Amino acid sequence: MKTIAIAMQKGGVGKSTLTRSLAVAATESGLNVLALDMDAQQSTSQWASRRSAELPLVRFVTEIELPKVLKQAEEAGCDLVLIDTPPARSTEAPAAVEFADLVLVPCSPDIEAYEQLPRTERLARTTGKPAVAVLTLAQPNSRTEEEIAREIFQKLKLAMAPAVIHRFKVHRDASREGLSAQEMEPDSKAAQEIAALWDWVCAQLQMGTSAPVHKKKRIKG
Ligand SMILES: Nc1ncnc2c1ncn2[C@@H]1O[C@H](COP(=O)(O)OP(=O)(O)OP(=O)(O)O)[C@@H](O)[C@H]1O
Ligand SMILES: [Mg+2]
Repeated sequence: MKTIAIAMQKGGVGKSTLTRSLAVAATESGLNVLALDMDAQQSTSQWASRRSAELPLVRFVTEIELPKVLKQAEEAGCDLVLIDTPPARSTEAPAAVEFADLVLVPCSPDIEAYEQLPRTERLARTTGKPAVAVLTLAQPNSRTEEEIAREIFQKLKLAMAPAVIHRFKVHRDASREGLSAQEMEPDSKAAQEIAALWDWVCAQLQMGTSAPVHKKKRIKG
């Protein structure tokens, strides 16, 4: 079982949206997926309750419950756990990072997000966990934001995921329906970006080839 923590102190950078999109991508590629919501806002849990499909499984957990829930997930044959964490300084994000094989750090191309980035980078560095920045909410058809972000990540010695998640309305529309962008508009650019990021994550964690494919059905809303 692999565990991915999605962490970034800055609020509203797309942590929860990314957690759900990757959880759906992993489910569609046949993995047993558990998405854990550690944010008291419970936006990922609420997304799950708006959802008609049963998978991916989503559960709210506290920091105290986390070790036990991860152990249970592993024993139950879970392939991948994605942990959505709250913004701001919290005890949840460090707990999630401690158990993670990979830390994804979503970051929008805003000064406020860049200013918060060192704190999240430090959190991953002190635990020795591999951390990768994911540029989110970027302006479509503009490479300038991507170039600036790359420089900022480089200065922090933070690797950057090759797939950039641009700002597309379908992410918001899908959230309302309890879906992810790739379920709502499978042929969209947004869906392609999620697929590219998921492929890259799979390669990083050496997942995807060994897991049994038991579910390939696309979920309709
Ligand atoms: N790539 C995107 N394109 C357009 N809208 C997006 C994108 N990613 C996220 N959003 C929207 O931006 C808002 C914030 O996203 P989200 O809730 O995922 O951020 P967050 O980092 O989890 O926020 P918080 O820190 O409050 O938990 C939501 O309304 C979401 O639908
Ligand atoms: Mg969130």
